Formats: sequence, C-alpha cells, structure tokens
Amino acid sequence: MGLSDHCLDRDRIPRHVGCVMDGNGRWAEQRGMARTEGHEQGEHALFDVIEGALELGIKWLTVYAFSTENWNRPDDEVRFLLNFNRTILRRRCDELNEMGVRIRFVGRRDWRVPKGLIKEMDEAIELTQHNERMTLVVAFNYGGRAEIVDAVRQIAAQRIPARMINERTIARHLYDQEMPEPDLIIRTSGEYRISNFLLWELAYSELVFSDVLWPDFTRHDLFAAIAEYQHRHRRFGRVR
Ligand code: FPP
Repeated sequence: MGLSDHCLDRDRIPRHVGCVMDGNGRWAEQRGMARTEGHEQGEHALFDVIEGALELGIKWLTVYAFSTENWNRPDDEVRFLLNFNRTILRRRCDELNEMGVRIRFVGRRDWRVPKGLIKEMDEAIELTQHNERMTLVVAFNYGGRAEIVDAVRQIAAQRIPARMINERTIARHLYDQEMPEPDLIIRTSGEYRISNFLLWELAYSELVFSDVLWPDFTRHDLFAAIAEYQHRHRRFGRVR
C-alpha cells in the first residue's frame, strides 16, 4: 500500500505530530515474551514512523519515550528503559543525522537521569543541530504537569509581576521555545487517555486513537491517522 492509497492532501500535512507509543508491554505479554522485548520491537515501529513522517514532509515529530510516571515501574524495567533509550541514541544517531533529522529533548534532567544518558543526549543534539528536514523531539522524563510547574518556577524566579503573566508568558517558559503546538496527537493500543503528554501544547490538537499496539504500528497507520486528521474541521473555538 503506497502513500497515494491513503488519499492524503499534500497541502494539509500536519506540521507537528505527537505520538504516545503505547502497548509495547501488552504486545510482548500476548506472545509470552518479556515486556522488554515489546520495547525492542517498538524501536522498529518508531523508525518506520520516522521514515513515513519524512516521506510526508512532517516537520516536527514528538514521541513519548519515558514519562515522569514511568519511574514507578519495576526497577528492572526502569533500568532497561534508561539503557534502551541510551543505546538507541548511540546506535541510531548517525542514521538520523544522515536522514536530515534534528534531535531535541523535552523533559526534566533531574538526578534520576544517568549522567551517561545526558551526555548521549547532548551529543545527539549537537551533532544534528543544523538539520532542517524534520525535528524529532524525544519526550524523556517528561510530564506535562511537570513542564507547567517548571515554567511557573522560572516565572516566579524572575519575579515577573502577576498582572504581567498571560498565556504567552507560560508558553515562553516551556521546554522547547521553537516547538510549534501539535496539530495531531496519536495514541496507540486502544487506550483513550492523554497520560500527561504535552498538556499545555495540545489545547487545540486533533486526537486520533488507534487500536494497534505500538510494536505493530507502521507508517501506513501513521498515514491512516493523517487521513482521519484531514477529515476533521479545526475551528479553534470559532464558528466555521
Ligand atoms: C509504552 O508501552 C512504551 C514505552 C514506555 C517506551 C517506548 C520507547 C521507545 C519505543 C523508545 C524510544 C527511544 C528513543 C531514543 C526515541 P507500555 O510498556 O506502556 O505498554 P503497555 O501499556 O502494554 O504496558
């Protein structure tokens, strides 16, 4: 099935797509495998989606790699996920760079994030900083509420008077100043939740939920989600 089978309007491709890559654990459990094998399979899905996004000319793709709540998983799985993210960066950074992808991160860099991973993140940012084809934002140790709390802390630390604070003030203190608000958020695995992803930024995003478990998600599922997005009428609170 090719791109044209999805009848996509090339002039209405979303600029920014966010993905909640859910269902890795269930995919593995259904096959009698360890949950970690589901995450490993999730890497292939992620790279197929990245290639599909590049094919479409999507400029920003944000993926939820590790949430502030994921620390509550069993120690083994947390350790695996930290290591997994680090090795993906190490193994795939050059490939992403060659594809013209600029890598960025959103999330808290607190004491729980291993120093080696932070180093790997900084190297990926630096290596890819001049790429212009697409920006891949990895939400790592990310929580939407934490992002708003961190913005408010900065605003308070700067002693900005209360009467001067408006929505733009908050937006200017979020993690990535350049990141546009997502046009489309996709969540896989048949769960109808946001789970603390891009809470401020998704105020007017279209939401598409897919029953496919993330390891089975392909670029064609991405194209189908975009076809659904293109059928929606975005009104931003106005009358059509
Ligand atoms: C959710 O499935 C998935 C994750 C917690 C991790 C996903 C991470 C990746 C695919 C790697 C991304 C890495 C980089 C560097 C971009 P789940 O375990 O919540 O599944 P379940 O709901 O079935 O238990």
